[in-house]
Amino acid sequence: MTRQLLALGRRQMLEIQPVDINHVVSGMDRLLRHTLGEDIELVTVLGERLPRVTGDAGYLEQVILNLAVNARDAMRKGGKLSIVTSRVPEQREVHLRHAGEKPDDFVLLSVRDTGHGMTPEVQRQAMDPFFTTKEKGEGSGLGLAVVYGIVKQFGGHVELESAPETGTEVRVFLRVSAEQNPLEAVTDAGPSPHGTETVLVVEDEELVRMFIVRILSGAGYRVWEAANGVEALERYESRIHSVDLLFTDMVMPQMGGRDLVRRFRGTRPELKVLYTTGFAHEAVSGTDRAGAPDPILLKPSTQETVLQKVREILDHR
Ligand SMILES: Nc1ncnc2c1ncn2[C@@H]1O[C@H](COP(=O)(O)OP(=O)(O)OP(=O)(O)O)[C@@H](O)[C@H]1O
Ligand SMILES: [Mg+2]
Repeated sequence: MTRQLLALGRRQMLEIQPVDINHVVSGMDRLLRHTLGEDIELVTVLGERLPRVTGDAGYLEQVILNLAVNARDAMRKGGKLSIVTSRVPEQREVHLRHAGEKPDDFVLLSVRDTGHGMTPEVQRQAMDPFFTTKEKGEGSGLGLAVVYGIVKQFGGHVELESAPETGTEVRVFLRVSAEQNPLEAVTDAGPSPHGTETVLVVEDEELVRMFIVRILSGAGYRVWEAANGVEALERYESRIHSVDLLFTDMVMPQMGGRDLVRRFRGTRPELKVLYTTGFAHEAVSGTDRAGAPDPILLKPSTQETVLQKVREILDHR
């Protein structure tokens, strides 16, 4: 598992660069509220003038989503989830100093819930891959392992503090980036990447599909959609030659992304593909004809990431 996670670092999709963690958190607002449901209150407190951290926005979104899902599962009767970003406060410095680190080198992302908490035994094992206290089929035990793997890969640290009945706080220490004035000027300047090609979006989660369809149509693309592989085949197999890019979820009931790609490439071998997945550990892609792996976009992604990735793949020859 650890090896698999570290291998993420060599994949082209991972773009380690200075990231504004507040931007990542605020960009997830709608998704988080939807994930948490109506009985959980979401409070975000974003620290002012935080330095950028070393990371990849998509992977940091994955970290936050995994933590939010755990918090939701621990608050079946409702509660409160607080996401706070800050410099490392004095009372949190001890562990870092212990690890031989300088607190000023980190930004703290704290995710705290008022859920059922963990016993010391559970807490000790919580980050182990495949450790779960959930029913069969409900949890794979990979959420925190993935969080840990991603954060470590960016040079950060993860701490858990939890008490039964009281709740849980996960503290993610993210390393301050050496570069502090990166792409922002470029990104904020010109318009988002756009195009007029035809993109077929196959995604079973309706909310995610709507999100992707909306931003692609907004950027000028002709967008076709389907809720799963079977539907995509039924509706579009005869027209697959008109599709410039297949944008598909990897894991769907009925027919998953990889099988769908295999089917479509039977008719149209040069079909371009962009996979999405909600889980970093599913992120093992297929390969295109030249043998290079098909790119993967981790959910949730920001509008900008989606548009950039789509443009990049369409332009790639
Ligand atoms: N916020 C939390 N509150 C209480 N217990 C938690 C919390 N987060 C994690 N845990 C405990 O740690 C275990 C492991 O969490 P982890 O996210 O790795 O796996 P999972 O949630 O069980 O499954 P998966 O995330 O793969 O669906 C959980 O089963 C749960 O017992
Ligand atoms: Mg989990």
